[in-house]
Amino acid sequence: MTTVLVTGANRGIGLEFVRQYAGEGAEVLACCRDPAGAGELAALAAARGGRVRVLALDVADAGSIAALKAALDGQAIDILVNNAGISGPRRQSADEIDGEGWLETFRVNTLAPVLVAQALHANLKAGTEKKLAAITSQLGSIAGNSGGRYAYRSSKAALNDVMRGLSRDWAGEGILVGIYHPGWVQTDMGGAGAPVTPAQSVRGLRQRIAELTPAISGAFRDYAGAPLPW
Ligand SMILES: NC(=O)c1ccc[n+]([C@@H]2O[C@H](COP(=O)([O-])OP(=O)(O)OC[C@H]3O[C@@H](n4cnc5c(N)ncnc54)[C@H](OP(=O)(O)O)[C@@H]3O)[C@@H](O)[C@H]2O)c1
Repeated sequence: MTTVLVTGANRGIGLEFVRQYAGEGAEVLACCRDPAGAGELAALAAARGGRVRVLALDVADAGSIAALKAALDGQAIDILVNNAGISGPRRQSADEIDGEGWLETFRVNTLAPVLVAQALHANLKAGTEKKLAAITSQLGSIAGNSGGRYAYRSSKAALNDVMRGLSRDWAGEGILVGIYHPGWVQTDMGGAGAPVTPAQSVRGLRQRIAELTPAISGAFRDYAGAPLPW
């Protein structure tokens, strides 16, 4: 049975990953900051009868990552989806920067996906598929930068860079890395007016992850498979 770990699994795109992977029969390790407050995820786990395991993980907290690593010792993971992310502080324009907010955005969007991947490296190596998926954003494209959103854009550009690095450094171990823009999606982050539903986005992302091979490991693609400029 395929085992998938998802961060930020209590709402938005992460919750939809849990719904769809569990629906196709995978075992899902659904990580979120506050399991007690994750009502929708708890209901999904109850409906899936043990196939969805809810685990506590604050990706910005090194102690929380260490506790997850200990809890999953010896557990093979086929697909690790680093999905948790934040849009950053209100002040992140050319004229006004919230420096602490920018650093927090880097901690969650850039540093955490690497630390989580490192903590679960042995679990990934023990998996059959050995796939690491980073949910980034097209706003991380430097070539496509139209200005604004300094903290978010730079955190995702840096995420793209470090995930590309892991795709090279871990290639010899058979680990494959996908760097994916999920589309502009109807979530708390994307807003109600976004054109893509979480279901559509995650259907595409699951397809991208399924077709990931060594030849395209480390590529930057959108949920529909279109290559994106760095
Ligand atoms: N929606 C879009 O249009 C869009 C476009 C491009 C990229 N993305 C990317 O897609 C990913 C998912 O976004 P979304 O739209 O689903 O956003 P969302 O609805 O705002 O959900 C964000 C998720 O990340 C979690 N999270 C934030 N900080 C965390 C932390 N320190 N530790 C653990 N979990 C944390 C949240 O948990 P809490 O409930 O505990 O806060 C929540 O589960 C993000 O990486 C985002 O940058 C989204």
